[in-house]
Amino acid sequence: MMKIQIQQLGSAALYGTAGFCIFLMLLNRLLILMPDSKGKAPIILTTFVLIVGGGAVFGFFFHTLPWVLAPLALLFLILLGEVRRSFIRRSCAGTGPVNTTPHTMDIRNPITTTDLIVHRYELPCPKWNGTPLRIVQITDLHVHLNLPLEYYQKVIAVAEEAQPDIAIFTGDFISNLNALAKLRQVLRPIGRLETYAVLGNHDYWTNPDSVGAVIRESKIHLLSDESVSLQVGTQKLIVTGYDYPWGTKQKSISHQDNGILHIVLSHTPDNIYRLSESSADLVFSGHYHAGQIRVPMLGSIVVPSVYGRRFDHGHFVINDTHLFVASGIGAANPPVRIYCQPDIFVVDIVPQKKD
Ligand SMILES: [Fe+2]
Repeated sequence: MMKIQIQQLGSAALYGTAGFCIFLMLLNRLLILMPDSKGKAPIILTTFVLIVGGGAVFGFFFHTLPWVLAPLALLFLILLGEVRRSFIRRSCAGTGPVNTTPHTMDIRNPITTTDLIVHRYELPCPKWNGTPLRIVQITDLHVHLNLPLEYYQKVIAVAEEAQPDIAIFTGDFISNLNALAKLRQVLRPIGRLETYAVLGNHDYWTNPDSVGAVIRESKIHLLSDESVSLQVGTQKLIVTGYDYPWGTKQKSISHQDNGILHIVLSHTPDNIYRLSESSADLVFSGHYHAGQIRVPMLGSIVVPSVYGRRFDHGHFVINDTHLFVASGIGAANPPVRIYCQPDIFVVDIVPQKKD
C-alpha cells in the first residue's frame, strides 16, 4: 500500500514539475506578452492551475511505468534545451563591466527593489576615433505610485553624475496612466549632447500618445521608428529608435554599413538577430528586468522573451553587433525585485587600439 502511495506521489511530482516547465515556457513566450488587462492575472493563474495542478492530479492516477516515461522524457528535453541555451549564451557573451558600484547584493536582503547599482562598460570600437564617447542607459523606469518619487529622482541624479555625452531611455516609462504626473516630475535631459528615448510595450499598452507627450515636454528626443544623425566633434553617429514589435508599424532599417557608428534603441532585445543583420553596431535594450525575481546561483526564472533566458542581462556580441541588456529601474506589477538589483549602464566607447 505504502509503495503504491510513494509511486503515486512521485508520479504526481514528476508530472507537476514537467507541467511547471511547460507553464514557464507559455508564460515567457505567450502569456506575459499579452497586453495588461484585468483578465491577464486570472488567465495566468488558470493556466498555472490547469497545467501544473492538472498534471499533478493526472500523474497521481497514472503512475505506472509507461506513464511516467512521458514527463521524464520532457524533463530530459528541457535539460537539453538548457544546455543548448547555456552554450549559445556563452558563445555570444561580451565583456563584463569594468566596474560596478556600489556592489550591495547581500543574500540576507532579498528585496532589492531600490538598491540601485551602476555597471560601467568599456567598448573599443573600430568606427570611433575621437575622444571617448560616454553613453548612459536608463530603462524600464515603470514609474509607480507605490515607490517614492525620491527613488526615481536619485536615478536621474546618478545618471547625471556620470556626465554622459549621450543619454538614452529604452522604454517602459510607466505601467499605469495614473503615474503620468509623477513621470513628468522625474524626466529631464541628461546627456551633454542629446537624450534619446523609445517607448516600451507598457507605454504602448497604456497610452503611447500621453507618454510620448511627457517625454517630448521634458526635452527628450523621442525616436519612433526613425533615425537621426548626431555630430560629435569631427565624427558623426546615427541613432535609431526601433519600435518593432511593440509599435504600430515595422521599421525597415538600413543594411548598408557606411562606416558611421550606428546606435539602436530597441526596447526588447528579441530584435537582436534582425538588427544584427542591419548596420547596427550597438543595440541598447531593457524589457526583461533581468528576470525581476532571481534565484541565487540559478539566476532569472521568468523572462518575457522568445529566447528564454539567453539574453536576460549584460553584454552580448551577435554577428559583430554589441547588445547591452540592462536590468532597468522599476518593476512591472508587483513593483518588487528579489535578488535583482535595478541598474544603470554606462558604456564608454573608445577607439580600438591598432596592432
Ligand atoms: Fe519593463
